[in-house]
Amino acid sequence: MKITRLELSQYRNYEKISVQLDYPICVFMGENAQGKTNLLESIYVAATGKSFRTSKDSDLIRWNESFTHIHLDYWKKDIRHRISLSLAPNEKRYKLDDKKLDKRSQLFGQLAIVLFTPDDLNLVKGEPATRRRFLDFEISQTSPSYLYSLQRYYRVLKQRNTALRDAKYKKSSIELVRIWNSQLAQYGAEIIHARQNALFKLNQTLDGIFPEVSGKTSQLTLIYKTFLQDDLLLDLNSLKKKFLDKLIKMEHEELARGTTLMGPQRDDFEVLLNQRSIHDFGSQGEQRSAVLALKLSEIYFIQEEIGDFPVILLDDFTSELDDSHVISIIRSLPRNLQILITSVHTLPHPFSDADVRYYLIKEGQLAGKGEPLPG
Ligand SMILES: Nc1ncnc2c1ncn2[C@@H]1O[C@H](COP(=O)(O)OP(=O)(O)O)[C@@H](O)[C@H]1O
Ligand SMILES: [Mg+2]
Repeated sequence: MKITRLELSQYRNYEKISVQLDYPICVFMGENAQGKTNLLESIYVAATGKSFRTSKDSDLIRWNESFTHIHLDYWKKDIRHRISLSLAPNEKRYKLDDKKLDKRSQLFGQLAIVLFTPDDLNLVKGEPATRRRFLDFEISQTSPSYLYSLQRYYRVLKQRNTALRDAKYKKSSIELVRIWNSQLAQYGAEIIHARQNALFKLNQTLDGIFPEVSGKTSQLTLIYKTFLQDDLLLDLNSLKKKFLDKLIKMEHEELARGTTLMGPQRDDFEVLLNQRSIHDFGSQGEQRSAVLALKLSEIYFIQEEIGDFPVILLDDFTSELDDSHVISIIRSLPRNLQILITSVHTLPHPFSDADVRYYLIKEGQLAGKGEPLPG
């Protein structure tokens, strides 16, 4: 997939801009706090309906303004598309090719993206929720049915939790809990199954990628941690049956605690370097390489699932890595994908000038429009 044009009105610190992005590598340069990340963020918002920096949509509207619009033109498998998003307080509208979309989930996966930010280190260092989000985001972009299961699961979970809470005072609520069990196990099994499959595929890719990124022959492995049975690939029906059995076994305790105590909402995956937890034993450098390898394998996962490369967004990429590392990583990416990069300095790039365009961002404006290499 390739983005060809981005138009913003009243987005963050941008009043109005229109940028032609018809190049394999687009580098947005500028001092701090000029709007580089805001620009990448707007693309992320157009692709997913949400920001990676804030959960408050109103933050995206330029201060003292009442709305914001984002338009994004892109190619997907030789077909042109256009996503439009408008946001006003308490109102959010999506359009794909001038057709109105009813739900955010319909937008998801139209334009697949993979975002790299300095925060990615949390994939190794952070909470299980960060890793679940990584998996859910990646799989949802390739599978609308996964997103559907996920949404259904959380809805059922909420209702079941309410029933568990009420059961303390109302005997009849126990029946309700049992009624929800079947759906919880069904959607839950679908989620676990898809996540285990995704990790299986990521592991295959990591075998090749990690040595390349780290310069070592070490092996990086991801292991799904679930309350059912860790890292055992079961078929969907067996998973569902195990889930149901577990719910029955745990009923007493769940009633006492008044909430659902297990399920994919608590699962995690572990990152092992040569069979040892990289969280506990990895050096800073190893952890960084692991995260990078993980994100790179996400690119190939999406490509294999949907038959097209996602657009890559690299925020502040060079701040964390030395220049030679940057070159080798960009070199390792397939040449036919599009990469949008923000950076405070010129990128040491290994490609011909024709491939790279520089954009200078200053106070929410485009000072240089798609210049070839400066100097
Ligand atoms: N809703 C908004 N309206 C206007 N300006 C905003 C809004 N949100 C953030 N900003 C401004 O955007 C700037 C930060 O932009 P950012 O893209 O993070 O900078 P950088 O170029 O360092 O990546 C800050 O100066 C901030 O005050
Ligand atoms: Mg920034």
